[in-house]
Amino acid sequence: MLKTIGVLTSGGDAPGMNAAVRAVVRAAISQGLDVKAIYRGYKGLIDGEVKTFTSQDVSGIIQRGGTIIKSARCMEFKTPEGRKQAYDTLLREHIDALVVIGGDGTFTGGRLFAQEYDVPVIGIPGTIDNDLWGTDATIGYDTALNTIMECIDKLRDTATSHERVFLVEVMGRDAGFLTLNAAIAGGCEAAIIPERKPIVEQIEEAIGSGRRKSKNSSIVLVQEHAIEGGAATVAQMIEKVHPEYSTRVTVLGHLQRGGSPTANDRILASRMGVAAVQALIDGQRNVMVGIQNDDIVLVPLSKAIHQKKDIKEDSWQAMMVLSI
Ligand code: F6P
Repeated sequence: MLKTIGVLTSGGDAPGMNAAVRAVVRAAISQGLDVKAIYRGYKGLIDGEVKTFTSQDVSGIIQRGGTIIKSARCMEFKTPEGRKQAYDTLLREHIDALVVIGGDGTFTGGRLFAQEYDVPVIGIPGTIDNDLWGTDATIGYDTALNTIMECIDKLRDTATSHERVFLVEVMGRDAGFLTLNAAIAGGCEAAIIPERKPIVEQIEEAIGSGRRKSKNSSIVLVQEHAIEGGAATVAQMIEKVHPEYSTRVTVLGHLQRGGSPTANDRILASRMGVAAVQALIDGQRNVMVGIQNDDIVLVPLSKAIHQKKDIKEDSWQAMMVLSI
């Protein structure tokens, strides 16, 4: 019988994770369940860092970035010994089911654990990368997108003043959602993403055509893993062909993971947290809570992890058409 739910955040933190924790805690309590927070993701599950949460424990956190229950990337949980220790914690703490908030690494670990120990696991997608299949958006993506857009707006001021070409490196792991959509929102001249790699000539053309129209500055977004060496490599390539261009490289880095979550991320996290608890009450297991066309859906964890979410072709086309 379901009596106690454990909740953890794992992998790279994302704005809105706190809102999700709050929603899980309060939804569980409202259904007469106990809820225990597990600190530092799977590491805390192994080490037994567990605390019973009340409604007050999640007061005043909906607007805070990061995660109050901490996060970690845990190598030990990848080993059978680590997962056995984690299971011992569940038994000791009388935790009957887990809600895991994170990205594909979090879900991969959670799914394996669920299979090995027959524990119900529900995933909530929390990652700025938006790279999980089965959900239109992940918690943190909208906030990160807005952060990047604001940085581009600021860089535009100095780029135009000095007539420079800025190469801006954007996070995303293997996915180009942040880069492409920030490029559209920021009115950038080009975007280099792993899913569609324009050859360098195309980037030159984008910059060159602007110059021919007396637009002497450009902002090109480079997804962190689209090209070996990232934005710095692209800058070198451009300067080699066009020594007359003055280039500058900006790596946005972990700035992109911080900040107060947007309204969209808070609402998404709140809806997903409530749905995750309901899913457990309904006897669901090993599924991710997703959002599709503004409806909450449940997607098998295996699909969320293994199926590839592609970028929208019309978004790519829009970027290309509007950047000339
Ligand atoms: O998955 C989120 C993310 O920020 C990626 O975009 C990035 O590649 C990675 O995490 C960075 O991880 P870390 O914070 O461990 O350096």
